[in-house]
Amino acid sequence: MENDKNTFTITDNRTGASYTLPIVDGCIRAMDLRPIKVNPDDFGTMTYDPAFMNTASCRSAVTFIDGDKGVLWYRGYSIDQLAESCTFLEVAYLLINGELPTKDQYEEWRSHIVHHTLVHENIKSLMEGFRYDAHPMSMFVSAMAALSTFYPDSRKVRDARQRRLDIYRLIAKAPTIAAWSYRHSLGLPYVYPDNDLRYTANFMNMLWRKVEPKYVANPVLARALGILFILHADHEQNCSANTMRCVGSSETDPYVTTAAAAAALSGPLHGGANEAVLRMLNEIGSKDNVPAYVKSIKEGKGKLMGFGHRVYKNYDPRARIIKRTAEEVFDVTGKNPLLEIAIELERIALEDDYFIKRKLYPNVDFYSGIIYQAMGFSPSFFTVLFAIPRTVGWLAQWQELLEDKEQKIARPRQIYTGYSRREVVPMDQRGAEVAIPAAR
Ligand code: ACO
Repeated sequence: MENDKNTFTITDNRTGASYTLPIVDGCIRAMDLRPIKVNPDDFGTMTYDPAFMNTASCRSAVTFIDGDKGVLWYRGYSIDQLAESCTFLEVAYLLINGELPTKDQYEEWRSHIVHHTLVHENIKSLMEGFRYDAHPMSMFVSAMAALSTFYPDSRKVRDARQRRLDIYRLIAKAPTIAAWSYRHSLGLPYVYPDNDLRYTANFMNMLWRKVEPKYVANPVLARALGILFILHADHEQNCSANTMRCVGSSETDPYVTTAAAAAALSGPLHGGANEAVLRMLNEIGSKDNVPAYVKSIKEGKGKLMGFGHRVYKNYDPRARIIKRTAEEVFDVTGKNPLLEIAIELERIALEDDYFIKRKLYPNVDFYSGIIYQAMGFSPSFFTVLFAIPRTVGWLAQWQELLEDKEQKIARPRQIYTGYSRREVVPMDQRGAEVAIPAAR
């Protein structure tokens, strides 16, 4: 190995010892640092990487991102081409199986999904039990987790046939549960799936059907929803995918694992950002208030929601496609007045040194909320609309994890910063060392 150019040589200046570490795929293995120690009984050297800024936690063939160039591929296909040429279920097949389906494979796949769209009536009762103003994302997380109670066999996560069945179920039932959380927030009766309809049209049926005997989806809106689903289907090792892998690594069943990933998605720094963008645009109120708002952000009063990304340091390619899709939607629904504010905000921010220096560009969430609102959704439902397609990505990541021989239960290390060992003092001899914060 000494002569191999694909190595690093590390000299430990504490001891003068030298170590040669292989470089594979541009990485060194953190475990190769462990033998670097001063004394034989030392623990050895670790890496410290809060928030995984520079640590690859897995090998993955699902999604590729080049954040500097603004590139996103699923299984080697560019997101632009997939959004242009494929249906959401074709892309779901691609993410789960690795290849685009033939016509026969597609029909078989669609039929499996269609036959699992219904949920047990007790899931309906469970959802009906939530308060009238329950957040739809909290309902979605809870109901996805509750599916676990109906499928005890799903705990056999090492059984590939069982996994496949649960993948069908989760992709099929996510829109049903999502739509019911929406109907609940409006106080409307839940609508059962119509299996004659395509995936997005059926979702629209469960959202919006009133008393008509057969729901007919507007084809432009159904296609726009399909494109939004494709754009949101996977995004490699983001916070929720990492949660899926972390929770799944202890071999929990895929229903509670997906619920955990959905919980991670719900935060405002991740999938909850689309809801936060709408609230921000409403708060700005008019185009004229944009400069003052941007100034306040630069003074440290909050963040520009829908801006910035851990990986993209160039324009998020999904935001570009969403902007195009917005035009098509607005031809049907009429323009969302918030669009004017958003475009002005983007224009001013992209010319401002603060944002240029930090490479902050609009991300996928900046425009998606404006489309969703034009379609008639309230902001609290936006993240649920993200969670439906992302369920596919989570499952693709979960399946890959379970098939990867190198993976084990996820268990990071820490640098302990607490006290060294001390003795317990009897209660009547203790002083109040720490003031406990008051609850609101
Ligand atoms: N508005 C203003 N300033 C920002 C923003 C923003 N949206 N995002 C980052 N910054 C600033 C930070 O304050 C920091 O400035 P500093 O160097 O002066 O301290 C610098 O840019 C770097 O930011 P980090 O926080 O280090 O970037 P990180 O990669 O950790 O965060 C994140 C990425 C969480 C997406 C962040 O940009 C953010 O909070 N954006 C707003 C929320 C959002 O839109 N999230 C959706 C992401 S897409 C998705 O999850 C689907």
